[in-house]
Amino acid sequence: MIRSPLQSASFFLSLTFQSRTTPCGQNAWLRRIGALLLVLMFAVEGNTPGFAQASAPVSKPDERSASNTGIADPRFDARIESLIQGMTLEEKIGQLVQYSAGQPTGPGTGRTDYKDMIAHGQIGSLLNVADTQLLDEYQHIAVEKSRLHIPLLFGLDVIHGFRTEFPIPLGMASTWDPALVEKAAHVAAFEASAIGIRWTFSPMVDIARDARWGRIAQGAGEDPHLGSAIAAAYVRGYQGSRLDAPDTMAACAKHFVGYGAAEAGREYNATEISEHTLREFYLPPFHAAIDAGVATLMSAFNSLNGVPASANPFTLTDILRNQWGFKGMVVSDWSSVGELVAHGIAADDRTAARKAFLAGADMDMVSSLYHDQLAQLVHSGAVTEARVDESVRRVLRVKFALGLFEHPYLDEARAKQSFFLPASLQLAQTVAERSFVLLKNAAGPDGKSLLPISKDVRTIALIGPLADNPYGPDSWNNSSAPKSGVRSFPDELARRLGESNVIRSAGGGILDGNDADLSAAVRAAKRADFVILTLGESSEMSGEAASRAYLGLPGRQEELLEAVVNTGKPVVLILFSGRPLTIPWAFEHVPSVVAAWFPGTETGPALARTLFGESNPGGKLVVSWPRSVGQEPLYYNSLSTGRPPGKIDLTHPPTDVPSKYVSRYIDEQNTPQFPFGYGGSYTTFAYGPTEISKTALSANELNRELSGEVKTSDALAAAATVSNTGLREGEEVVQLYIGVEGTSTAQPVRALKGFQHVALSPGETRRITFHLSPDAFAIWNERNRFAVEPAKVRVWIAPDSAGGADAKLEILP
Ligand code: NOJ
Repeated sequence: MIRSPLQSASFFLSLTFQSRTTPCGQNAWLRRIGALLLVLMFAVEGNTPGFAQASAPVSKPDERSASNTGIADPRFDARIESLIQGMTLEEKIGQLVQYSAGQPTGPGTGRTDYKDMIAHGQIGSLLNVADTQLLDEYQHIAVEKSRLHIPLLFGLDVIHGFRTEFPIPLGMASTWDPALVEKAAHVAAFEASAIGIRWTFSPMVDIARDARWGRIAQGAGEDPHLGSAIAAAYVRGYQGSRLDAPDTMAACAKHFVGYGAAEAGREYNATEISEHTLREFYLPPFHAAIDAGVATLMSAFNSLNGVPASANPFTLTDILRNQWGFKGMVVSDWSSVGELVAHGIAADDRTAARKAFLAGADMDMVSSLYHDQLAQLVHSGAVTEARVDESVRRVLRVKFALGLFEHPYLDEARAKQSFFLPASLQLAQTVAERSFVLLKNAAGPDGKSLLPISKDVRTIALIGPLADNPYGPDSWNNSSAPKSGVRSFPDELARRLGESNVIRSAGGGILDGNDADLSAAVRAAKRADFVILTLGESSEMSGEAASRAYLGLPGRQEELLEAVVNTGKPVVLILFSGRPLTIPWAFEHVPSVVAAWFPGTETGPALARTLFGESNPGGKLVVSWPRSVGQEPLYYNSLSTGRPPGKIDLTHPPTDVPSKYVSRYIDEQNTPQFPFGYGGSYTTFAYGPTEISKTALSANELNRELSGEVKTSDALAAAATVSNTGLREGEEVVQLYIGVEGTSTAQPVRALKGFQHVALSPGETRRITFHLSPDAFAIWNERNRFAVEPAKVRVWIAPDSAGGADAKLEILP
């Protein structure tokens, strides 16, 4: 457990929040009286806005749970209703309006007269304000100058840390460690909340099956089970046990829903997802976030089966509200309300506003259409005021739950002392180390692998345009703060080997380079005992609006790679990227390859410790690594098809009828370069056979348990021994998959249903047991319900999605 950020937070336990008096507005006297009554009411409860209060408690990780984050807390109901009763329609709509008032993260930002609008109660939330003083100034206007003194909610994309940057989410997920992700999210909340950011547009829980889609970098990969565990961890980490603790942020699970299925991996593209696939793959991480108490959701840009997600009543109302009972608030993605016109489902702005609002988008991010159109829609009867009240209630609930009415202002002392705390940096280093995936570490002729780097290595050539990339991408959150005291990777190497023993050569840029650059790199390689090659993408090449049609190394890096490897020197390749890259030549010719993603602030120490063996990599892929771009979308949990190739050798073109008429390519294998779940270690692990507690289950019984009719023990226990067969200690992520056949809807060939970390000393063996509950066997069936059906089941306990030995059982009626 990381204690220090929390412990260091305790300094503000003793502090009193800034106090400023709250003058009444200058409006009509009736409104003044209404506002005064509200102020009095709060005062009776000891919650006068803007008056000095004792600090709220800081959350502790072990207290966190889904139910007590405050979103559905009935304590606020009376206050919310009184506020709503005193609001004009314009003020109500104001709560549903959000603008970007900082570095834009999309096109067009609506308008700029924010201060005036805030004073008139026309804005409920701002995003992208990362300037501490400006943020506080806006808040003072809202609380002191607006008639009802309702604080603003400030949102920002704090997606992998705020000032202390953690690995990008794809890297964080590669740890397969929800507890670690939770701690990282808490540090992010601790830092961002210190300047008044109390709402993060994170986690992105979109299932991503296509590496062309740049946003694959921002999620947890392709699997709904792992994605759900990670989604819940982020929510717990950001929100803590009580949202009104000052070091929390409201989380926002995004993008609801289906965004990751963008056709051809092209950003903002349409999606077509059957209900079956939606229910089994794309929706579960959102459900998990809601179960964990997430306060808000963001509706997506994409159209889903022809209906844009920000105006989709089926997903936003039927599923989210009616079936799942979500009580929090939904914000539309950036201008996605306005974009309904471009989508073609609204002929004009008014229709766009009506469709989005009635479908269930409570707050309009940036497009300004609620501001411009909603009042008219109410006056014309197209939208009822009661419906507006409902959305306002949801927004206010988040503000109350966060304690913004009690503590709206910046705590300057805390703002100065919250960043880059030693424990936060230590955690960032640990997460970075655990995010690295060792893709290859082949033994040489002497039986030894290049990694960890031998103590005999005296000189290292550090080659490649990404060697100087000390922090990974600047986090996508406007927090361009100095990162004092952070050691870069070249610094780390120099510290270990001596400056003169590290020979540097960029070998060209990420996107460009010339023959002279390549020659210089080759010369550098020849002068050294050992080469560390750092290649990959720039941070701007993944994330939003960064889809790629080619997944190889950009610029002249492939040439650089081949030229350096052809020197015959021992080469270790470190890949920095926001997605898997198709570099088959490298995987064939480079003995050791590490996927480092973008590791964040602690890149330097984390990478050096890993390469020199002080840390043993244990990350595992959360996305299938393609051999070629033509395989995309590529995911392990695919359907079998009617013509699975089975044992046919796909490494060469078909030669006869049986090898031709199967689901395959004529020029590429079906399998990935590296499967989902795969990742190496400096030690080796061996798995015993999968053993199961029963060979038959009853569908009826499991369904009765699923419906809550009866409650029995776990449906099935499965176990396997895992042994460390290598020479050093290591940690393995043991994975459990099932495959079901014979059901009414076709099911994935394998589906992850559990994972556990086990740390083993050399020679140690441990028996790892998984307990599966009935819902592990439930499928979305042909009658559009989750149920268990009679089936043949295979269970694998395995090191990845392609390995392991299976055990078989049957689900009888
Ligand atoms: C658009 C992105 O899709 C979304 O993820 C982000 O939160 C908003 N812009 C705000 O920056």
